[in-house]
Amino acid sequence: MTGTEWRIERLEGIEYWTIAGEARRNALSRAMIQELLENLERLRGERSVRCVVLTGEGEKAFCAGADLKERATMSADEVHQFHRSLLAAFRGIEQAPQAFVAAMNGAALGGGLEMALACDLRVVVDGAEMGLPEVGLGIIPGAGGTVRLPRAIGVARAKDLILTGRRIGAAEAFAMGLVSRVAPPGRLREVALEMAALVARNAPVSIRQAKRAIDGGLHLDLDAALAHENAMYQDCLRTKDRVEALRAFAEKRKPIFTGE
Ligand code: COA
Repeated sequence: MTGTEWRIERLEGIEYWTIAGEARRNALSRAMIQELLENLERLRGERSVRCVVLTGEGEKAFCAGADLKERATMSADEVHQFHRSLLAAFRGIEQAPQAFVAAMNGAALGGGLEMALACDLRVVVDGAEMGLPEVGLGIIPGAGGTVRLPRAIGVARAKDLILTGRRIGAAEAFAMGLVSRVAPPGRLREVALEMAALVARNAPVSIRQAKRAIDGGLHLDLDAALAHENAMYQDCLRTKDRVEALRAFAEKRKPIFTGE
């Protein structure tokens, strides 16, 4: 499972994916995105995996955005092609049936923060910086940043970050709602795994359907959103896990979920 670009650890119901690119501050290269797409494809058939934690190697960066050294060697067509695969990978994270936790172990900049924004949950280590500096590089956040950031933290705050390109620390990111947890230095893995374990103990179909209900309903009008939620709910009713949860409650024990 572990390739050259990502180190994959399998834990109880959880996979821990680490970008193995500390020397380039875990920047997004073509090979790294290709391997990410392959792992997302593999994950579709992995019923035993309920939550994935994404992190970066080392303590300096979660991900420094696009690999600017590789970018300098690419033609416009190649950049276009790369960009398409980047968008597909981030959308793949969002649409995966498993929940994804971004564990930001250091700077999360540009595409690095955009990758974290495609995840369901975000935790950052105290001391790390986050930002979308693209307008200072003559571009705009183009891997979902202008779309996902306002959805995550609201238009006013998103414009504050995107139009200034400024970097923020953990406390401000927490206050803005960009991250839901801040880990003390040295404890990021523990905190991220704690979050992942809380997710992983739940019914897999419920996780998938709750993600779909939230992501799909967010910008529908109220009645359409409620109808969408109901459709997502219906899919849970047919599962063995729902029956198992009721049985476990009656028997005063923890449910054993299989994802069926
Ligand atoms: N692409 C390719 N290589 C990168 C990179 C990137 N986005 N970011 C950093 N690196 C490389 C540096 O070129 C350097 O390589 P070298 O040792 O061969 O010179 C190495 O990583 C270390 O970089 P350095 O800046 O010294 O590390 P740092 O730990 O002090 O700071 C960052 C880390 C991430 C805060 C800093 O590198 C940075 O701000 N990077 C640019 C982020 C950016 O603007 N991304 C683009 C967004 S669109």
